[in-house]
Amino acid sequence: MPVRICGIGKGIPAKKVMNDELPASLETSDEWIKSHTGISSRYIVDENGSSATLGMSACKDALKDADRKGFSVKAEDIDLIVCATAAAEYWSFPSNACLIQKELKASKSAAFDISAACSGFIYGLQVARSLMLQMKYKYALVVGAEALSKISDWNDRSTCVLFGDGAGAAVLKNDDTFEESFGSFVLGADGNGCDSLYLGKEDHHIHMDGRAVYSFAVGKMAEIIETLLKKENLTIDDIDYVVCHQANERIIQAAAKRLNYPMDKFVLNIADYGNTSSSSIPIALVDMEKDGRLIPGKKLLLAGFGAGLTWGGCFLKW
Ligand code: ACO
Repeated sequence: MPVRICGIGKGIPAKKVMNDELPASLETSDEWIKSHTGISSRYIVDENGSSATLGMSACKDALKDADRKGFSVKAEDIDLIVCATAAAEYWSFPSNACLIQKELKASKSAAFDISAACSGFIYGLQVARSLMLQMKYKYALVVGAEALSKISDWNDRSTCVLFGDGAGAAVLKNDDTFEESFGSFVLGADGNGCDSLYLGKEDHHIHMDGRAVYSFAVGKMAEIIETLLKKENLTIDDIDYVVCHQANERIIQAAAKRLNYPMDKFVLNIADYGNTSSSSIPIALVDMEKDGRLIPGKKLLLAGFGAGLTWGGCFLKW
């Protein structure tokens, strides 16, 4: 039974913070942040906001989008909600997915969170897809939802300037009459890298060995893209866009250079949003559809990496 994405949506906080508006005590600059990361601004939740509230907005937006596209999916039709998050509203439980289920009144759905950091949306797509096929579920929501501002150390300029808040969601439908959207997947992890990026047990802040993550990320992005092309028996010329996790513009440029692939295949939205972890890929898909780049038939590769260390990628036909 084929599974397709039939709606996408995003939830972005109202407050946008430009590099120049970051606290002076950080002793950073627009020039340093832009030249080292490509980031110009990020969105930050207010004190009432959380990754769950952003996730709810993204899911509602995705359901509206599905409706606009002629799939009238009601919340009560949803069989499964999978939320990828590194900064859930509650420390451990209930899951963001359950909070989203309550808000949507999606009363028949199973709901749980996935912890795969920035790779979480891709892990979530494959977990949801597999459950849909195995359990014969018809509709699922997969959402990446992050409020990284809540777990950033606002005294540490080497990390806090990198992150932003936001959520992106996809409605998946399982239907015999469809052409399958998804092709090959790659999922992986190397727990030996767990010390290079983690949430402090005591301070609940992000700690990162930036250089170690950078070199891992460049190699892994290139490897995922090559592996997916090989599995699909395609070349980069067959692909319209490569949508990588947006951690640093330089990582994406270095991966493209390593592969000798043109940068115009690679989607960038980090300038506006910063690194929104599991949300960066679905937010990019929403914006690409809005600006007309993403139309039915387009062929995409998605590729992500994150804490764990984890990575994931997939081929997707829009
Ligand atoms: N403003 C000004 N100066 C800064 C800042 C800042 N915000 N941050 C660091 N510096 C300084 C440092 O203090 C250092 O100064 P020094 O040379 O006097 O000691 C200098 O800049 C260079 O610091 P580096 O850390 O070596 O800078 P680098 O060029 O490696 O860039 C960066 C740092 C951007 C973090 C890069 O290593 C990177 O992008 N790494 C990967 C990050 C990533 O992908 N993380 C994924 C996290 S996602 C998740 O799972 C939540």
